Parts: sequence; C-alpha cells; structure tokens
Amino acid sequence: MYRSMKLLATLTAFTFTPLVAHVANAAVFQDASSLPSDKQYDIVVVGALSMVGGTAGSVIASRLTEDPKINVLLIEAGPDDEGAIDLQIPGNFPDGIEPKYHWNFTTTPQSGLNDRALPYDRGHVLGGSSSINGMVYTRGAADDYDRWANVTGDDGWKWNSLLPLIKRHERWSGAVGGRNISGQYDPSVHGYDGQTKVALPWSGPNAFDNLCLEEAKAGSEFPFNLDPNSGQPLGLTWVQSTFGGGERSSASRAYLHTSVRQRSTLDILVNTRVTRVLSVGNVGSKDFRTVEIGTTAGGALRNVTARVEVVLSAGSIGTPHILLLSGIGNKTELDAVGVPSTHELNDVGKNLSDHFALFAFGTSTAPDTPPVDHTAALLQWTQNRTGPLTESVTPHQLLWTRLPSNSEALQKYGDPSSGPNAPHIELALTWGPNFGGAASLLTPHSRGSVTLASSNPFTDPLIDTNYLTHPFDIEVLKEAIRTMKRFYSSPGFSSYIVTPIAPDPDAGEAEFEAYTRNSGVTALHAVGTASMSATGAKEGVVDPDLKVKGVKGLSIADASVIPYAPTGHTSAPVYILAERASDLIRSRY
Ligand SMILES: Cc1cc2nc3c(=O)[nH]c(=O)nc-3n(C[C@H](O)[C@H](O)[C@H](O)COP(=O)(O)OP(=O)(O)OC[C@H]3O[C@@H](n4cnc5c(N)ncnc54)[C@H](O)[C@@H]3O)c2cc1C
Ligand SMILES: *[C@@H]1O[C@H](CO)[C@@H](O)[C@H](O)[C@H]1NC(C)=O
Ligand SMILES: *[C@@H]1O[C@H](CO)[C@@H](O)[C@H](O)[C@H]1NC(C)=O
Ligand SMILES: *[C@@H]1O[C@H](CO)[C@@H](O)[C@H](O)[C@H]1NC(C)=O
Ligand SMILES: *[C@@H]1O[C@H](CO)[C@@H](O)[C@H](O)[C@H]1NC(C)=O
Ligand SMILES: *[C@@H]1O[C@H](CO)[C@@H](O)[C@H](O)[C@H]1NC(C)=O
Ligand SMILES: *[C@@H]1O[C@H](CO)[C@@H](O)[C@H](O)[C@H]1NC(C)=O
Ligand SMILES: *[C@@H]1O[C@H](CO)[C@@H](O)[C@H](O)[C@H]1NC(C)=O
Repeated sequence: MYRSMKLLATLTAFTFTPLVAHVANAAVFQDASSLPSDKQYDIVVVGALSMVGGTAGSVIASRLTEDPKINVLLIEAGPDDEGAIDLQIPGNFPDGIEPKYHWNFTTTPQSGLNDRALPYDRGHVLGGSSSINGMVYTRGAADDYDRWANVTGDDGWKWNSLLPLIKRHERWSGAVGGRNISGQYDPSVHGYDGQTKVALPWSGPNAFDNLCLEEAKAGSEFPFNLDPNSGQPLGLTWVQSTFGGGERSSASRAYLHTSVRQRSTLDILVNTRVTRVLSVGNVGSKDFRTVEIGTTAGGALRNVTARVEVVLSAGSIGTPHILLLSGIGNKTELDAVGVPSTHELNDVGKNLSDHFALFAFGTSTAPDTPPVDHTAALLQWTQNRTGPLTESVTPHQLLWTRLPSNSEALQKYGDPSSGPNAPHIELALTWGPNFGGAASLLTPHSRGSVTLASSNPFTDPLIDTNYLTHPFDIEVLKEAIRTMKRFYSSPGFSSYIVTPIAPDPDAGEAEFEAYTRNSGVTALHAVGTASMSATGAKEGVVDPDLKVKGVKGLSIADASVIPYAPTGHTSAPVYILAERASDLIRSRY
C-alpha cells in the first residue's frame, strides 16, 4: 500500500536499462509451444510464489526440487525476472516498475466508496507480487496464526509450530552499509540461513525517528517495541524489509536463484496463462491433475497433466479465477455465466478480506527532507549497492495500536482481531512541512468477492473488495486518526504544528466519512478467497493440508487460503504458509 506513499516520496522514480545481458537457462521456457510435449512432471505449480505463479509458487517449486526425485513444472503468466535489474532496485518502488510486470486489474465500483473503482495491482512476473511490492516485512501477530490453527483444527498452523519454518525462510541481512543496528531489532527472532533476505534500511536513525523514539520512551501510550516480528507487534517498531545487500529479495530472486534454476528436475514456463484445471479421465473422476495452458496473449491451448498433484499459487485474485473457470464454485453463479459446474464449492472467490487506508496531513514548521540527487544515487547503487536507492518509500518506523478496550466500536460490533496482541491499526507516520501519514485498518469486518465476468479466461474477473460496507471499519479509521492526533500532541511535535491533521473525525464525523469514502486507498493485501477450514467443514475451500475439498490431485498455497486479514503486510504470512505447504506436499509425495 505504500504505493500511495508516493505523495510523500522523496525519491522520484525512474527506469533503468539492464547493463548485463543474461543468457536464458535451458530450464526456462518462454512460451507454451516450446514446452516439450513428451515430458512428465510429478507436480505442476501455477504462479511463481507457488507452483502456479508468484510468491508462494517460487518457494514451493524451490523446496520440492531439493528432493531430486520430485520433478516440477512452474507456470507463470508474466515474464521471467532474470536480468531485470530495474526490479532489483528497491528505490524503484512504486513508479519505476515497468507496466509489463503488472496485472491491470480494477475493482468493481465500490458502494462504500461512493462508487469509486480502484486500480488493484498484482505482480505479473516470476516471483509474483513479491517482485513488485513495497517490501515491508511483517509477520503479524502470533494470535493470527493461532487463529488459523483454531479455524482449521490443525495445531501445525500455530505460531509456535511454525516458528522453525519462519526462521527457515529468512536470511537476516543486517543493514546495507553495515551501520550499527544494535537495539533496533531482536536477533533471537530471526533466521540466518534461509532464503529471503530481510534487513533494516541503509540510512537511519533520522531526526524524526529520534523524536518518535523520545515519545516512545515517555512511558506513554506508544511504547517502543524492539522487533515487530516477534509475534507481538504492538508499539513503535523499526521497519524491516525484504531486501538485502542493497537489492530487492523477491521470492524468485531468493528461491529461484541460479543454482536452483540449474536443477534438472525444475522447469519454469513463463508468459503462459493457466486457463483451467481439468479432471483426468471423465469429469466425474474429480481428479484435477490437468492444467490447460495458453500463451498470455491467447492462442492455442494445450494440456499438461501432473503425475501427482497440481498446486495453485496464482494469488487471491488468480486462484479463485482459475477455480471458477474450471467449474469449481457456486453452481448457480457458474450457470449464469455459462461455465459447466464440475464440483460445487460455494466459498470459492468469497470472503475476500483486505486492508484499507486513509492519508491525513497537517502543516508544520519542521524542515523538509533534502531532495535526493538521482543520478548520483543511481551511480552509487550501480557501484556498490549502497545509498538512497537501496531503500523504498516506506518510513523507517511503524506504529501498531489497538482500539481502546472500552471503545464503542468494539462493544457494538465485537472484536474481529485474532487476540489481545494483534493490532487493529497501523500508522505510517511522516514529519516535515506536511506531517501526518497513512492510517490502515487491519481488521476489517467487511468482506468482498472475486467472481466471473465471463467464461473467457482472458477476461478479468470481477473484483469486489467491498471496502467500508460494515460500520465497524470506518469507526476504526476514526480511532486511527484520533490516535495519530494524540501521537503528534506530545511536546516534541506540538510546538511545530501550524495547522492540525485533517480529516479529523472530531471536527465533523459526516465530513470525515465523506472524505474517507472519497479518497481512501487500498492496501493491496487481499486474502481469504479460497479459505482454509476444518476437514469436513461445509464452509471454506481447502482442508488444513491445503487440498481442495472434495477433489483429488489439486491443492492451493497462496494468500487466498488465509482465512482472515493478517495484522500486518501480507507477504511474510505467505512465505510462512508456503514453507509449510512445501513440507505438506513433500510428505504426501
Ligand atoms: C503493489 C503492491 C505492494 C505491496 N506491498 C507489500 C509490502 O510492502 N509488504 C508486504 O508484505 N506485502 C505487500 N504486498 C502484498 C504481497 O506482495 C502479496 O500479498 C503476496 O506477494 C501475495 O503472494 P501470492 O503468492 O498469494 O500471490 P502473488 O505473489 O501475486 O503470485 C501470484 C502469481 O500467479 C500468477 N498468475 C496469476 N494467475 C495466473 C494464471 N492464470 N496462470 C499463470 N499464472 C498466474 C501471477 O502472475 C503471479 O506471479 C503488496 C502487493 C502489491 C501488489
Ligand atoms: C498491463 O498493461 C501493460 C501496459 O499496457 C502491459 O504491458 C501488460 O502486459 C498488461 N498486463 C496484462 C496481464 O495484460
Ligand atoms: C476455537 O476457539 C473457540 C473459542 O475460543 C473454541 O471454543 C474452540 O474449541 C476452538 N477450536 C479449536 C479447534 O481449537
Ligand atoms: C553499537 O551500538 C550499541 C548501542 O547503541 C553500542 O553499545 C555498541 O558499542 C555499538 N557497537 C559498535 C561496534 O560501535
Ligand atoms: C484438454 O483436455 C480436455 C479434457 O480432457 C479436452 O476436452 C481438451 O480437448 C484438451 N485440450 C487439448 C488442447 O488437448
Ligand atoms: C449460490 O449463489 C446464489 C446466487 O448468488 C445464492 O443465492 C446461493 O445462496 C448460493 N448458494 C450457496 C449454497 O451458497
Ligand atoms: C559506495 O560508493 C559511494 C560513492 O558512490 C561511496 O561514497 C561509498 O563510500 C561507497 N561505500 C562503500 C561501502 O564502499
Ligand atoms: C465465508 O463467508 C460466508 C458468508 O459470509 C460464511 O458463511 C462462511 O463461514 C465463510 N467461510 C469462511 C471459511 O470463512
């Protein structure tokens, strides 16, 4: 969501032409027609984080092929990221990332937003959204994972059970340039031998960071928290990001690096859209091990059958889209668009849950941040991978808070958070002539959906995020702005303030609501559209072992199976989930 922080960004984006020409590896096929027709795969993953696709797909393809007996095909709709140096520069986020790396989705007109339709970005490249995202690394609250265990009845999803896998995925990388970061993170909660590089930024602490730390010391409402990734995120924390050594550490860079690509058991097929999964044999067999594929631009389709399993990792939009095109969903709704039902599973595409944010600013006499000299910054990055371009537009610190326990909203609507250590609110604060920041709702009651607009697989699905349709959600944003006001009312800030933060719910609730509905932004953190649930449960789409309910040969591993919006940015939960998914798939192989 820091895409929108571009309002505040001190870095102007630019594109950079790769200096190095890379030779395509033999295991990477550029289109569906080049894939050998006689080759057999045990497992087919769709989406580069998982088997089909992006963040999760890259993890799973990498982990499974650690076993030389497992043969994997990874299919990705977008291009390869090999040699795409522009994706590796953290400071290129958001505007320096080329259009070809994006899906160009737009939500349906939102009734909660005065009928605004919002662009809904997703990564369309190997590594998926992790190749283009804002890189903020937040695991969320331990309570979030304990709730996964609760709704699935599988203790393997508990935070404590997952902790070894969390460490297995991470390669803590300190801070670029080697500044002293003692007291800015907790070494005991990190992993050091994993794949994804996680680091503190090159620069810091700046004057504003120090003012915030002063405030956190005052024993006030906003205590300093040494590490946001301990499972207990509440308080003021230093931001950790999925970069290291001055470069973005996407799922593809981290998990599909050269030596993984050289495995003879891994083939990667890019620029190829999965249009459906099909039953092997007759339709009634419900053994969905065949994927139908075509080049991204359309054209002739062909089938690839996995010997053991197909894993969908096409993300919270792509995965339900493929399932629905395959006839797996609500029969009435599929009939209406002319897709024959193959398996009734009513929650496919339902229960979409997402974060939503609002920007609020006042003015102050605090000095402005000096502008960055981009030419010099690019030269520095090119020379030794240090400097301002090693950072994203994210602030150095984030503040995580809960609604007061006596809050009217909690009493009236119940608490949708996973537990007492999970925040309802994230504040990304900024200081200067324009001060304030972004306030995010982390625990929405509103839920949306992904449905088919057409049976044509190359037509975008309808993405109805349904923001702010539950009254609780706007109440949280009011509290978030009140919290922001209290934060800036301390002596360290108040003497600089010229005009107060607006919009202000206490200056007029109706105006606040109108402003929020007219200008709030998406955090791009959709989850829940193919939710996990207990074995045998009527609701949900996958069992606790991530197999699609009631069919054979098909499982899902990506953000879509996460049942509730995590209380942090979503890539870390997806990595954690993908590590366990790899173990689950491997154990049944
Ligand atoms: C602009 C942006 C900024 C973000 N910022 C942050 C952040 O700072 N921190 C954070 O933690 N999270 C952030 N997120 C969210 C986070 O990146 C995602 O939640 C996470 O990467 C999702 O992983 P996934 O595996 O579920 O899906 P994705 O990583 O999106 O992977 C899905 C893959 O499947 C492919 N695919 C889809 N359909 C098909 C098909 N039919 N055939 C073949 N392939 C297909 C896609 O091209 C994609 O590669 C951001 C997201 C965006 C878009
Ligand atoms: C999105 O638009 C850009 C620019 O037109 C294009 O390059 C890209 O391929 C589009 N993405 C998809 C998934 O079609
Ligand atoms: C989930 O939590 C509820 C409420 O605390 C409890 O009643 C239920 O037994 C839990 N279920 C499991 C499977 O742990
Ligand atoms: C790093 O900072 C810590 C605390 O601020 C300090 O105790 C330590 O001596 C510093 N280490 C080095 C190598 O300067
Ligand atoms: C793929 O398989 C389906 C179902 O068996 C079949 O109808 C279709 O013709 C096949 N497509 C191709 C291109 O072989
Ligand atoms: C299927 O969708 C229809 C139309 O939206 C809805 O009325 C019906 O309740 C749904 N069925 C189930 C079992 O959810
Ligand atoms: C990196 O290069 C810049 C100049 O471009 C220089 O100022 C800096 O000291 C170098 N840093 C390291 C760690 O070499
Ligand atoms: C999805 O939403 C429906 C309707 O709101 C609800 O009945 C169901 O329990 C939800 N399923 C899950 C897995 O959350």
